[in-house]
Amino acid sequence: MSRRDTLYSARDGEPGSFRFDEQVVDVFPDMIDRSVPGYSLIVPMIGQLARRYVQPGSVVHDLGSSLGAVTLSIRRALRDRHDLRDVRLVATDSSAAMVGRFRQLLAGLDAAEQAAARQDAAGQGAAGQSGADAPAPAGMPVDVVHGDIRDTDFGNASLAVLNFTLQFLDLDDRDRLLTRIADGLLPGGALVLAEKVRFEDAPTQERQTEWHHDYKRLQGYSDLEIARKRNALEAVLKSETEQRHQQRLREAGFRRCTRWFQCFAFTAWLAEK
Ligand SMILES: C[S@@+](CC[C@H](N)C(=O)[O-])C[C@H]1O[C@@H](n2cnc3c(N)ncnc32)[C@H](O)[C@@H]1O
Repeated sequence: MSRRDTLYSARDGEPGSFRFDEQVVDVFPDMIDRSVPGYSLIVPMIGQLARRYVQPGSVVHDLGSSLGAVTLSIRRALRDRHDLRDVRLVATDSSAAMVGRFRQLLAGLDAAEQAAARQDAAGQGAAGQSGADAPAPAGMPVDVVHGDIRDTDFGNASLAVLNFTLQFLDLDDRDRLLTRIADGLLPGGALVLAEKVRFEDAPTQERQTEWHHDYKRLQGYSDLEIARKRNALEAVLKSETEQRHQQRLREAGFRRCTRWFQCFAFTAWLAEK
Protein backbone atom coordinates (compact mmCIF):
# COMPACT_ATOMS: atom_id res chain seq x y z
CA MET A 1 0.00 0.00 0.00
CA SER A 2 1.44 3.39 -0.99
CA ARG A 3 1.76 6.26 1.47
CA ARG A 4 -0.45 9.29 0.90
CA ASP A 5 1.24 12.02 -1.14
CA THR A 6 1.61 15.15 0.99
CA LEU A 7 5.08 16.02 -0.41
CA TYR A 8 4.24 19.51 -1.58
CA SER A 9 2.61 20.52 1.67
CA ALA A 10 6.20 20.50 3.00
CA ARG A 11 8.40 21.04 -0.11
CA ASP A 12 8.50 24.56 -1.50
CA GLY A 13 8.32 23.60 -5.17
CA GLU A 14 11.40 25.43 -6.44
CA PRO A 15 10.91 25.82 -10.22
CA GLY A 16 12.29 22.82 -12.08
CA SER A 17 13.17 20.92 -8.90
CA PHE A 18 11.00 17.81 -9.43
CA ARG A 19 12.96 14.53 -9.35
CA PHE A 20 11.96 10.86 -9.11
CA ASP A 21 13.82 10.55 -5.80
CA GLU A 22 13.29 8.39 -2.68
CA GLN A 23 10.61 10.67 -1.28
CA VAL A 24 8.64 10.60 -4.53
CA VAL A 25 9.06 6.81 -4.73
CA ASP A 26 7.54 6.48 -1.23
CA VAL A 27 4.28 8.10 -2.37
CA PHE A 28 4.41 7.43 -6.12
CA PRO A 29 1.35 5.15 -6.63
CA ASP A 30 -0.84 7.58 -4.65
CA MET A 31 0.74 10.62 -6.36
CA ILE A 32 0.18 9.39 -9.92
CA ASP A 33 -3.32 8.10 -9.20
CA ARG A 34 -4.47 11.42 -7.67
CA SER A 35 -2.67 13.54 -10.30
CA VAL A 36 -3.39 11.78 -13.60
CA PRO A 37 -7.09 11.40 -14.29
CA GLY A 38 -7.65 7.99 -15.85
CA TYR A 39 -4.33 6.44 -14.77
CA SER A 40 -6.16 3.59 -13.00
CA LEU A 41 -7.98 2.79 -16.25
CA ILE A 42 -5.05 3.31 -18.63
CA VAL A 43 -2.79 0.78 -16.87
CA PRO A 44 -5.14 -2.25 -17.17
CA MET A 45 -6.09 -1.20 -20.72
CA ILE A 46 -2.42 -1.45 -21.71
CA GLY A 47 -2.56 -5.04 -20.45
CA GLN A 48 -5.59 -5.63 -22.62
CA LEU A 49 -3.86 -4.14 -25.70
CA ALA A 50 -0.81 -6.31 -25.01
CA ARG A 51 -2.91 -9.43 -25.58
CA ARG A 52 -3.39 -8.34 -29.19
CA TYR A 53 0.14 -7.13 -30.04
CA VAL A 54 2.63 -9.24 -28.09
CA GLN A 55 4.16 -11.99 -30.24
CA PRO A 56 5.70 -15.34 -29.22
CA GLY A 57 9.45 -15.22 -28.57
CA SER A 58 9.57 -11.42 -28.58
CA VAL A 59 10.53 -8.68 -26.10
CA VAL A 60 8.13 -6.23 -24.42
CA HIS A 61 9.53 -2.92 -23.16
CA ASP A 62 8.10 -0.83 -20.33
CA LEU A 63 10.05 2.42 -20.79
CA GLY A 64 10.23 4.61 -17.70
CA SER A 65 8.66 1.81 -15.69
CA SER A 66 8.67 3.52 -12.25
CA LEU A 67 7.23 0.91 -9.86
CA GLY A 68 6.24 -1.42 -12.68
CA ALA A 69 2.49 -0.82 -12.85
CA VAL A 70 2.48 -1.34 -16.65
CA THR A 71 4.83 -4.33 -16.54
CA LEU A 72 2.69 -6.04 -13.92
CA SER A 73 -0.50 -5.24 -15.80
CA ILE A 74 0.91 -6.81 -18.98
CA ARG A 75 2.17 -9.83 -17.07
CA ARG A 76 -1.27 -10.32 -15.48
CA ALA A 77 -3.08 -9.90 -18.80
CA LEU A 78 -0.86 -12.49 -20.54
CA ARG A 79 -0.98 -15.03 -17.76
CA ASP A 80 -3.23 -17.52 -19.52
CA ARG A 81 -1.44 -17.16 -22.89
CA HIS A 82 0.58 -20.37 -23.13
CA ASP A 83 1.79 -19.29 -26.59
CA LEU A 84 3.56 -16.30 -24.99
CA ARG A 85 5.49 -18.15 -22.26
CA ASP A 86 8.83 -17.33 -23.91
CA VAL A 87 8.22 -13.57 -24.02
CA ARG A 88 10.71 -11.39 -22.13
CA LEU A 89 9.44 -8.34 -20.22
CA VAL A 90 12.00 -5.56 -19.80
CA ALA A 91 11.27 -2.65 -17.45
CA THR A 92 13.75 0.22 -17.70
CA ASP A 93 14.04 3.31 -15.53
CA SER A 94 16.82 5.83 -14.92
CA SER A 95 15.83 6.50 -11.30
CA ALA A 96 17.85 4.27 -8.96
CA ALA A 97 15.22 4.79 -6.26
CA MET A 98 12.41 3.57 -8.55
CA VAL A 99 14.39 0.58 -9.81
CA GLY A 100 15.39 -0.48 -6.29
CA ARG A 101 11.81 -0.31 -5.04
CA PHE A 102 10.37 -2.11 -8.06
CA ARG A 103 12.88 -4.94 -7.67
CA GLN A 104 11.80 -5.32 -4.03
CA LEU A 105 8.12 -5.33 -4.97
CA LEU A 106 8.69 -7.87 -7.72
CA ALA A 107 10.68 -10.21 -5.46
CA GLY A 108 7.82 -10.10 -2.92
CA LEU A 109 5.19 -10.79 -5.59
CA ASP A 110 7.18 -13.62 -7.13
CA ALA A 111 7.80 -15.23 -3.73
CA ALA A 112 4.09 -15.02 -2.85
CA GLU A 113 3.14 -16.47 -6.24
CA GLN A 114 5.57 -19.37 -5.93
CA ALA A 115 4.29 -20.14 -2.42
CA ALA A 116 0.69 -20.13 -3.69
CA ALA A 117 1.62 -22.39 -6.62
CA ARG A 118 3.37 -24.84 -4.24
CA GLN A 119 0.29 -24.90 -2.02
CA ASP A 120 -2.00 -25.51 -5.03
CA ALA A 121 0.25 -28.31 -6.25
CA ALA A 122 0.28 -29.94 -2.79
CA GLY A 123 -3.53 -29.66 -2.59
CA GLN A 124 -3.99 -31.16 -6.04
CA GLY A 125 -1.50 -33.93 -5.30
CA ALA A 126 -3.42 -34.84 -2.16
CA ALA A 127 -6.69 -34.85 -4.12
CA GLY A 128 -5.07 -37.00 -6.86
CA GLN A 129 -5.70 -34.49 -9.65
CA SER A 130 -4.19 -34.91 -13.10
CA GLY A 131 -1.70 -32.69 -14.97
CA ALA A 132 -4.55 -31.08 -16.91
CA ASP A 133 -5.53 -29.23 -13.71
CA ALA A 134 -1.94 -28.33 -12.79
CA PRO A 135 -1.55 -24.88 -11.15
CA ALA A 136 -0.84 -21.91 -13.43
CA PRO A 137 2.90 -21.23 -13.57
CA ALA A 138 4.30 -18.01 -12.06
CA GLY A 139 4.10 -14.94 -14.31
CA MET A 140 6.68 -14.23 -17.00
CA PRO A 141 10.14 -13.25 -15.82
CA VAL A 142 10.84 -9.52 -15.75
CA ASP A 143 14.26 -7.87 -16.26
CA VAL A 144 14.33 -4.63 -14.29
CA VAL A 145 17.02 -2.45 -15.83
CA HIS A 146 18.53 0.64 -14.26
CA GLY A 147 19.32 2.64 -17.35
CA ASP A 148 18.40 5.34 -19.81
CA ILE A 149 15.71 4.41 -22.34
CA ARG A 150 17.65 6.37 -24.96
CA ASP A 151 20.21 3.51 -24.84
CA THR A 152 17.69 0.65 -25.01
CA ASP A 153 18.04 -1.90 -27.80
CA PHE A 154 14.62 -2.47 -29.36
CA GLY A 155 15.52 -5.47 -31.53
CA ASN A 156 12.91 -8.27 -31.59
CA ALA A 157 10.37 -6.14 -29.70
CA SER A 158 6.66 -6.64 -30.34
CA LEU A 159 5.40 -4.00 -27.89
CA ALA A 160 6.91 -0.89 -26.31
CA VAL A 161 5.14 1.32 -23.78
CA LEU A 162 5.91 4.92 -22.89
CA ASN A 163 3.31 5.59 -20.19
CA PHE A 164 3.84 9.26 -19.25
CA THR A 165 7.62 9.01 -19.78
CA LEU A 166 8.39 10.71 -23.12
CA GLN A 167 7.30 14.04 -21.61
CA PHE A 168 10.36 13.94 -19.31
CA LEU A 169 12.88 13.62 -22.17
CA ASP A 170 14.60 16.58 -23.81
CA LEU A 171 12.66 17.63 -26.89
CA ASP A 172 15.74 17.01 -29.03
CA ASP A 173 15.89 13.33 -28.02
CA ARG A 174 12.28 12.41 -28.75
CA ASP A 175 12.41 11.98 -32.56
CA ARG A 176 15.42 9.69 -32.39
CA LEU A 177 13.94 7.53 -29.63
CA LEU A 178 10.66 6.99 -31.49
CA THR A 179 12.51 6.24 -34.74
CA ARG A 180 14.68 3.67 -32.94
CA ILE A 181 11.56 2.07 -31.42
CA ALA A 182 9.81 1.92 -34.81
CA ASP A 183 12.94 0.47 -36.46
CA GLY A 184 13.37 -2.19 -33.76
CA LEU A 185 9.75 -3.36 -33.59
CA LEU A 186 8.78 -6.55 -35.41
CA PRO A 187 6.27 -6.23 -38.26
CA GLY A 188 2.84 -5.99 -36.60
CA GLY A 189 4.40 -4.59 -33.42
CA ALA A 190 3.11 -1.51 -31.63
CA LEU A 191 3.96 1.37 -29.35
CA VAL A 192 1.63 2.59 -26.61
CA LEU A 193 2.29 6.25 -25.89
CA ALA A 194 0.55 8.19 -23.10
CA GLU A 195 1.33 11.84 -22.47
CA LYS A 196 0.03 15.02 -20.93
CA VAL A 197 -0.55 17.21 -23.98
CA ARG A 198 -0.82 20.97 -24.29
CA PHE A 199 -3.38 22.77 -26.41
CA GLU A 200 -2.45 25.26 -29.13
CA ASP A 201 -5.43 27.46 -28.45
CA ALA A 202 -4.98 29.54 -25.26
CA PRO A 203 -8.60 29.45 -23.99
CA THR A 204 -8.69 25.67 -24.40
CA GLN A 205 -5.36 25.30 -22.60
CA GLU A 206 -6.68 27.45 -19.76
CA ARG A 207 -9.93 25.50 -19.44
CA GLN A 208 -8.21 22.13 -19.56
CA THR A 209 -5.75 23.26 -16.86
CA GLU A 210 -8.61 24.45 -14.64
CA TRP A 211 -10.45 21.14 -15.07
CA HIS A 212 -7.29 19.22 -14.21
CA HIS A 213 -6.78 21.34 -11.10
CA ASP A 214 -10.43 20.74 -10.13
CA TYR A 215 -9.67 17.01 -10.39
CA LYS A 216 -6.67 17.40 -8.09
CA ARG A 217 -8.68 19.45 -5.57
CA LEU A 218 -11.33 16.72 -5.50
CA GLN A 219 -8.54 14.22 -4.85
CA GLY A 220 -7.65 16.18 -1.71
CA TYR A 221 -4.72 18.34 -2.88
CA SER A 222 -4.73 21.94 -1.61
CA ASP A 223 -4.27 24.94 -3.91
CA LEU A 224 -0.81 25.43 -2.39
CA GLU A 225 0.22 21.83 -3.11
CA ILE A 226 -1.08 22.12 -6.69
CA ALA A 227 0.80 25.38 -7.29
CA ARG A 228 4.05 24.11 -5.77
CA LYS A 229 4.04 20.84 -7.73
CA ARG A 230 3.28 22.76 -10.92
CA ASN A 231 6.31 25.00 -10.30
CA ALA A 232 8.51 22.01 -9.47
CA LEU A 233 7.57 20.38 -12.79
CA GLU A 234 8.27 23.53 -14.80
CA ALA A 235 10.74 22.72 -17.62
CA VAL A 236 10.98 19.15 -16.27
CA LEU A 237 7.72 17.92 -17.81
CA LYS A 238 7.69 19.38 -21.34
CA SER A 239 4.34 18.74 -22.96
CA GLU A 240 3.62 18.99 -26.67
CA THR A 241 0.44 19.19 -28.72
CA GLU A 242 -1.42 16.13 -29.93
CA GLN A 243 -0.60 17.19 -33.53
CA ARG A 244 3.11 17.22 -32.77
CA HIS A 245 2.95 13.73 -31.26
CA GLN A 246 1.00 12.37 -34.23
CA GLN A 247 3.45 13.95 -36.68
CA ARG A 248 6.45 12.49 -34.82
CA LEU A 249 4.89 9.02 -34.78
CA ARG A 250 4.27 9.19 -38.55
CA GLU A 251 7.78 10.47 -39.28
CA ALA A 252 9.27 7.75 -37.06
CA GLY A 253 7.72 5.14 -39.34
CA PHE A 254 4.46 4.13 -37.67
CA ARG A 255 1.81 3.53 -40.31
CA ARG A 256 -1.24 4.09 -38.13
CA CYS A 257 -1.83 5.99 -34.89
CA THR A 258 -5.08 5.72 -32.95
CA ARG A 259 -6.04 7.78 -29.91
CA TRP A 260 -7.73 5.40 -27.48
CA PHE A 261 -7.93 7.54 -24.33
CA GLN A 262 -8.27 11.17 -23.37
CA CYS A 263 -9.32 12.86 -20.14
CA PHE A 264 -8.50 16.58 -20.10
CA ALA A 265 -4.86 16.79 -21.26
CA PHE A 266 -4.04 13.16 -20.50
CA THR A 267 -3.98 11.29 -23.78
CA ALA A 268 -2.99 7.82 -24.96
CA TRP A 269 -2.38 6.49 -28.47
CA LEU A 270 -1.55 3.17 -30.02
CA ALA A 271 0.92 3.42 -32.91
CA GLU A 272 1.23 0.38 -35.19
CA LYS A 273 4.27 -0.44 -37.27
C1 LIG B 1 5.62 9.49 -14.72
S1 LIG B 1 6.77 8.25 -14.48
C2 LIG B 1 6.15 6.92 -15.48
C3 LIG B 1 5.03 6.16 -14.87
C4 LIG B 1 5.01 4.68 -15.21
N1 LIG B 1 5.27 4.45 -16.61
C5 LIG B 1 3.72 4.10 -14.78
O1 LIG B 1 2.90 3.77 -15.65
O2 LIG B 1 3.49 3.95 -13.56
C6 LIG B 1 8.16 8.67 -15.44
C7 LIG B 1 9.31 7.69 -15.20
O3 LIG B 1 10.22 7.82 -16.28
C8 LIG B 1 11.53 7.72 -15.75
N2 LIG B 1 12.43 8.36 -16.72
C9 LIG B 1 12.49 9.66 -17.10
N3 LIG B 1 13.43 9.85 -18.05
C10 LIG B 1 13.98 8.61 -18.29
C11 LIG B 1 15.01 8.15 -19.13
N4 LIG B 1 15.64 8.97 -19.98
N5 LIG B 1 15.32 6.83 -19.12
C12 LIG B 1 14.68 5.99 -18.27
N6 LIG B 1 13.70 6.39 -17.44
C13 LIG B 1 13.35 7.68 -17.44
C14 LIG B 1 11.46 8.40 -14.40
O4 LIG B 1 12.53 8.02 -13.55
C15 LIG B 1 10.08 7.96 -13.91
O5 LIG B 1 10.16 6.80 -13.14
